[in-house]
Amino acid sequence: MATIKCIGILTSGGDAPGMNAAIRAVTRTARFNGWSVKGIMRGYKGLITGEIIEFHSNSVSNIIQRGGTILKTARCNEFKTAEGRETAFQNMKKEGIDALVVIGGDGTITGAKIFAEEFDIPIVGLPGTIDNDLSGTDTTIGYDTALNTIVDAVDKLRDTATSHERLFFVEVMGHTAGYLALNGAIATGAEAAIIPEAETGNDQLKALIDNGFRKSKNSAIVLVAENPATGGAIGLAKRVEEEYPQYDARVTILGHLQRGGSPTAADRILASRLGAAAIEALKEGQRNIMVGIKNGEITYTPFCQALSHTKTVKQSNIELVKILSI
Ligand code: F6P
Repeated sequence: MATIKCIGILTSGGDAPGMNAAIRAVTRTARFNGWSVKGIMRGYKGLITGEIIEFHSNSVSNIIQRGGTILKTARCNEFKTAEGRETAFQNMKKEGIDALVVIGGDGTITGAKIFAEEFDIPIVGLPGTIDNDLSGTDTTIGYDTALNTIVDAVDKLRDTATSHERLFFVEVMGHTAGYLALNGAIATGAEAAIIPEAETGNDQLKALIDNGFRKSKNSAIVLVAENPATGGAIGLAKRVEEEYPQYDARVTILGHLQRGGSPTAADRILASRLGAAAIEALKEGQRNIMVGIKNGEITYTPFCQALSHTKTVKQSNIELVKILSI
């Protein structure tokens, strides 16, 4: 195995708060070990277009507190083609990049997996997504910040829901997973979470109405995971209008608000630990793995397992929302 002298780092897919803290940790740990670092702009796109810049220790100064990503990000269709990946590999060679650290969600890790299979390059992935939908890690970089953004927003909506005695459907992100909706519901005391994981043959809206959402109140907040399976907040509100016209329903879609903002302390610490662990993994000769955290300890998971969707929301948390909303 060739010794590593230079690593390339990129962020790809949806931005997530804490990505900058991860870039900083990877860069500084690599420099600490005497490796040079190259920042690849706009994710895999920059690898194809050759938009690659030398990174020094001070290139990552004053970014730990900033949301977004200084490397910028993109969803790159060209990298999905064999020609695009060939160009990316040639650019890596030209730049003298021996290994890659990629930060992103399932699309990013999927791209890394295919790239690593085709070419003999060590790649380490860091889970950077607000969705928390990667297996092999309890939590992903950006998830905690997004959850806190949801809590702030729902606390405000609660004032109007209570004053007007309304039913609010608040749609949150999550790609295909219900982590943000379910744990957001627990954290805000919401009356229900409607998530794809609980959809299998269940009419979650009917169950909510039939059970009489919180008996002591005439208002309710329901967190809805974005997903065709749930109908989304708009679909659910439409159903209420048609099937349960006695309720005054309103919709709030939090959208990309959830992806922005300064990362929480938890996300900064997670990103710093995972970023440093990515370099340790490469030093040990590990490749084609995602670095994660389980029960507070660093874990290394092969890409295929990280993408396996074997992690799922806790059934007991689904139950908890029901119990706490009586
Ligand atoms: O994967 C992160 C995520 O924010 C998902 O929760 C959401 O479905 C998607 O990205 C939105 O992507 P875009 O910003 O490209 O519209």
